[in-house]
Amino acid sequence: MQIGIDKIGFYTPSLYLDLVDLAHARNEEPDKYLIGIGQEKQAVIPATQDIVTMGASAADQILTEEDKKDISTVIVATESGVDNSKAAAIYVKQLLGLDNFVRTVELKEACYSGTAAIQFARGLVNLNDKEKVLVITADIARYGIGTPGEVTQGGGAIAMLISVNPRVLAIENQSVSYTDDIMDFWRPLYRSEALVDGKYSTNVYIDFFNKCWNRYSEITDRSFDDFSALIFHLPFTKMGKKALDSVMEKEPENIANHFGTQLKFSQQLSRQVGNLYTGSLYMSFLSLLQFNSELVAGNRIGLFSYGSGAEGEFYSGILQNEYGDVIDFENIETMLNNRTKVSVADYETIFNSQIGYTSTDVVLDTSNDKSKYVLSGQKDQQRQ
Ligand code: CAA
Repeated sequence: MQIGIDKIGFYTPSLYLDLVDLAHARNEEPDKYLIGIGQEKQAVIPATQDIVTMGASAADQILTEEDKKDISTVIVATESGVDNSKAAAIYVKQLLGLDNFVRTVELKEACYSGTAAIQFARGLVNLNDKEKVLVITADIARYGIGTPGEVTQGGGAIAMLISVNPRVLAIENQSVSYTDDIMDFWRPLYRSEALVDGKYSTNVYIDFFNKCWNRYSEITDRSFDDFSALIFHLPFTKMGKKALDSVMEKEPENIANHFGTQLKFSQQLSRQVGNLYTGSLYMSFLSLLQFNSELVAGNRIGLFSYGSGAEGEFYSGILQNEYGDVIDFENIETMLNNRTKVSVADYETIFNSQIGYTSTDVVLDTSNDKSKYVLSGQKDQQRQ
């Protein structure tokens, strides 16, 4: 029985920051951001959007009324939770109008938990092949104004429907996870911005990728020849290049060139949106499918998921025949082309306007946010 991604949808808000503007404001060479980090634009998240509204918008794009009836479980994977107790999946379930006879839960392990959600979903579908599981990865990447991580911020959501006979990607059983207790990036409960040991985190990422890939290759007897593309969690696009280069050094030039070209396809959306944390790997997947028109059914794709703290997983999937019919690439293009550029000053005001740790009522002006789902504020310590 094949199980995997049957549908995939993407949402990011309608505002962006041009990173050349940010470079000027921070007295950096624009090429440091454009080439050294590999980012051009960054999604700016208005106070009227959070992981719940963004997750619901991503899911809304892919779900028919029939799908909604078949969904048994909703899993929201995030590290930008809106409550320390209640699962964001309950709010999302309600906004989408799903039946009350549904299981809802939130998962956390930094940027990795979307992959855990997919693997758990496969297990549920394997127990009952009539069930479909809605996996939502949604985050707002916040490092802070003027920090080295600022250029690697971003935000948005990816929604995936996991089922039997998937039309996008059939996930293979072999996978390798690797975990160690590492302080490379974390966010204590009292903070709304991450703390990060930036250079160390990039080294741990590369090390975990090598460990996962080597073990995967050993247990499956597969080499790079068995793959059409390798895709990566992209906190910033250069990170994927660093990881790929670390394993391609020993490979013949034609193999290194092939995977380098595939990586470029997978980086396109990230260059325009920035870090989605849990959703970044799956935005890379969408980007690969959107920009490489030569992929065909049967191609094997390798996926490396990484979450600081730290955990990595390498797994693979086989591309399915109908992926081009199921994914609305035009909608993604329109959404990105219709975004409005904001100045650095406006971005800073918006950054500081996110509802944070407050117990007072807040009424937000939603008139500029045309999204289907918006956060209108907080009343009696409950999000509205
Ligand atoms: N032209 C071209 N390139 C230039 C340049 C110029 N004018 N000026 C500098 N560069 C290059 C540098 O040579 C460097 O390249 P290499 O990394 O290939 O050596 C690159 O630009 C970045 O320059 P710095 O190293 O000086 O940058 P920095 O110290 O300001 O910080 C960073 C970079 C550490 C990635 C920082 O942005 C950061 O902390 N980001 C957040 C942490 C992160 O994303 N870590 C990734 C792994 S953790 C993870 O994946 C989980 C997650 O999502 C957070």
